[in-house]
Amino acid sequence: MKILGVCGSLRNSSSNSLLMKAAKNELEEYEWLNFDISLLPYFDPDNQFSEQVPRAVLETRSLAAQADMIFIFSPEYAHGIPGILKNAFEWIFHEHTQKKPVYVVIGSAEGENAKNQLIEILSTMDFQIDEKQILLVKGARSLVNLDGSFRDQALKNRFSKFCKSIQPI
Ligand SMILES: Cc1cc2nc3c(=O)[nH]c(=O)nc-3n(C[C@H](O)[C@H](O)[C@H](O)COP(=O)(O)O)c2cc1C
Repeated sequence: MKILGVCGSLRNSSSNSLLMKAAKNELEEYEWLNFDISLLPYFDPDNQFSEQVPRAVLETRSLAAQADMIFIFSPEYAHGIPGILKNAFEWIFHEHTQKKPVYVVIGSAEGENAKNQLIEILSTMDFQIDEKQILLVKGARSLVNLDGSFRDQALKNRFSKFCKSIQPI
């Protein structure tokens, strides 16, 4: 089984990148595919399906098509999802991602807005997503260590349970 891991934060030692590390520790039996979404250009509908689809977009779409599921790790910024994450999904979604399951961890101060927006946006793009596939990690920046281990046992248990709940198609 393959998981495409997508991190919505570009910050060095971002708490969301550490949460992705924690998920990789939990889900070692999966093959993780990675793509740096900062390599994608700004979304341009003129190039969405044309012969000029940028190479980085073709690579990301190919990884998304191969993956059995997509796993997003993202902060909330100004009551919304990061622009770079929305940009990535505008490119990524295409006929081979229809009904592809998406799981989400939101490492943020609060994160409720990002959660609601992701459900709306990803279901509009015909990914398979519902509330049970999203875990909020509130106050993430003080809760995860650099090696992806947790400083809080209750969160460790909650995170582990969430990771074990993920299901391929
Ligand atoms: C510019 C900015 C705006 C933010 N706005 C929100 C917000 O509206 N809601 C929220 O829950 N957290 C907000 N945060 C907090 C981040 O989501 C939080 O620090 C998160 O853990 C950062 O993720 P990262 O460590 O992966 O970069 C904001 C942070 C920044 C830098």
